[in-house]
Amino acid sequence: MPDAPTRSFARSTALKAVAHQLIPGGAHTYAKGDDQYPELAPGFIDRGLGCRVWDVDGNEYIEYGMGLRSVILGHAYPSVVAAAHREMLRGMNFTRPSPLEVEGAQALLDLVDGAEMVKFAKNGSDVTTAAVKLARAYTHRDRVAICAEHPFFSTDDWFIGTTAMAAGIPRAIRELTVKFHFNDLASLAALFTKHPNEIACVVMEAATSIEPEPGFLEAVQAECRTRGAVLILDEMITGFRFHLGGAQKLYGLTPDLSTFGKALGNGFPIAALAGKRELMELGGLRHDRDRVFLLSTTHGAETSSLAAALQTMRVYRDEGVIEALAQQGERLRAGIQQAARTLGVERHFAVIGHPANLVYATRDPEGRPSQAYRALFLQELVRRGVLAPSFVVSYSHLDRDIDETVEAVAGALAVYRRALDDGVERYLVGRPVKPVLRGLN
Ligand SMILES: Cc1ncc(COP(=O)(O)O)c(C=O)c1O
Repeated sequence: MPDAPTRSFARSTALKAVAHQLIPGGAHTYAKGDDQYPELAPGFIDRGLGCRVWDVDGNEYIEYGMGLRSVILGHAYPSVVAAAHREMLRGMNFTRPSPLEVEGAQALLDLVDGAEMVKFAKNGSDVTTAAVKLARAYTHRDRVAICAEHPFFSTDDWFIGTTAMAAGIPRAIRELTVKFHFNDLASLAALFTKHPNEIACVVMEAATSIEPEPGFLEAVQAECRTRGAVLILDEMITGFRFHLGGAQKLYGLTPDLSTFGKALGNGFPIAALAGKRELMELGGLRHDRDRVFLLSTTHGAETSSLAAALQTMRVYRDEGVIEALAQQGERLRAGIQQAARTLGVERHFAVIGHPANLVYATRDPEGRPSQAYRALFLQELVRRGVLAPSFVVSYSHLDRDIDETVEAVAGALAVYRRALDDGVERYLVGRPVKPVLRGLN
C-alpha cells in the first residue's frame, strides 16, 4: 500500500507559535494541547459538520471523540442549534429563573430513575465537586474515596491533588482523598476500616473500558450504605451513551448522587447534579440545617444551553440514539480488528471498551504500552483523513464514515507493522505524545 501524502499544516504551525505566546500550553483545554498529538497533526480546527471537521489549513477529517465526547449527535446538529438559537433571540439570562430551568429539570429526572432533584451547571467538574461537598455536609465527614483506575473526576483540588499535576494544592487537601481499586471490594472495605466514620463518599464510574465484575457495583452500594457513606456515580461519559437511563439503569444501581455533563447538551456547556431529595435539599431553602452552597453561578442556567439540552434529550428519546451508537461502534470495532489481524498487529494494537466509547491500546514490539506507537498511529491516521484520539462515535457517524475510517486504519496499521519491524523512530516525525493525565480525551 503506498504511503499517504503528508498534509500541509502551514497555518496551524504559524498559529501555534502565537498561541503559546498568549495561552499557557497553547490551548484552553489540556486534552486539546500539543503534548497530546504528534507533530504531523492539525493544530487548530476551523469548523465541523456532522462527524467531519476542517482544520485551519483546509484539510478535512472524520473526527472521533468530538469535543472531549461532548458532541454526541454531531457537530452543528440542526435541531439542537435551532433550539439554542431560538432562546438566544429571546434573551439568555434574566434576573429571575426561566421556566426552562423547570422544564429541563423535569426532562432529566424523567430519564434518571432514582433521582428526585437536579441542579444544572456548566462543567462536569463543578457538579462532581458539588456532589462531594453535599456528601461532606450530609455526613459531617471530610474524606473522599475515589476509584484509582478511573482517570478523571474533576479539575478541583480534591481530585487533581491526587494526580501527577498536584502543584499548588495543599497537602492537607490531598491527604483527604484516598483510593480503592475497581473490581476489588476488599480494597474499599479496607479504606473504611482504616478511616472509621471519616469517609463521606465513594466516587466512581460504573464502568470504563473495564467492565464491573458481576456483583461488584451492588456490593459497593451495599458497603456505602452499611458504612454511612454517600455513593456518587460519575456519569459524565456513561450518561446517555451506555443507556438512556445512564449506566445506573444498565447496571441496576441507585446511587445517592450522580453527575452528568459532556453529551447532555451536544457540545453546549451544561452539566447536571442529580440525586436523592434528602441530600439535594441541603442546597435548598426548605430546611433549617446549614445550607450548602450548591452550584450557583452567573451563567449556570443561561437559556440557550438549557434549550440545547432539552432538544438533545428529545433526540435521544425519540430516535434510538443509544442503539445507533452501539451499532456503529461495533461495526468500527469489527472492521479495525479484522484489519489488525490481516496485518498481524493484533498483539500490539487493540480496540477496547463499550462500543459507544471505544478507545485503543498501542504496544511496542515487546508488548509494552507505548506512547511512541500511539503517536505514530495518530500521525498515520491524520495523513489518511481521520482525527481519532479515541474511537468514540457520534450519531452522525454513518456506515460510509465508518468504512472510510476502517480503510484509513488499515493503512495506518500497515505503517505500524513496518515500525514494529524497523523501529518506530524511522516512521514517527517529531516527538511522541506525552500526556500528563490519562483519560482527558
Ligand atoms: C468521567 C469524567 N468526570 C468528570 C469530568 C470533568 O468534566 P468537565 O471537563 O466538564 O469539567 C470528565 C472530563 O473529562 C470525565 O471524563
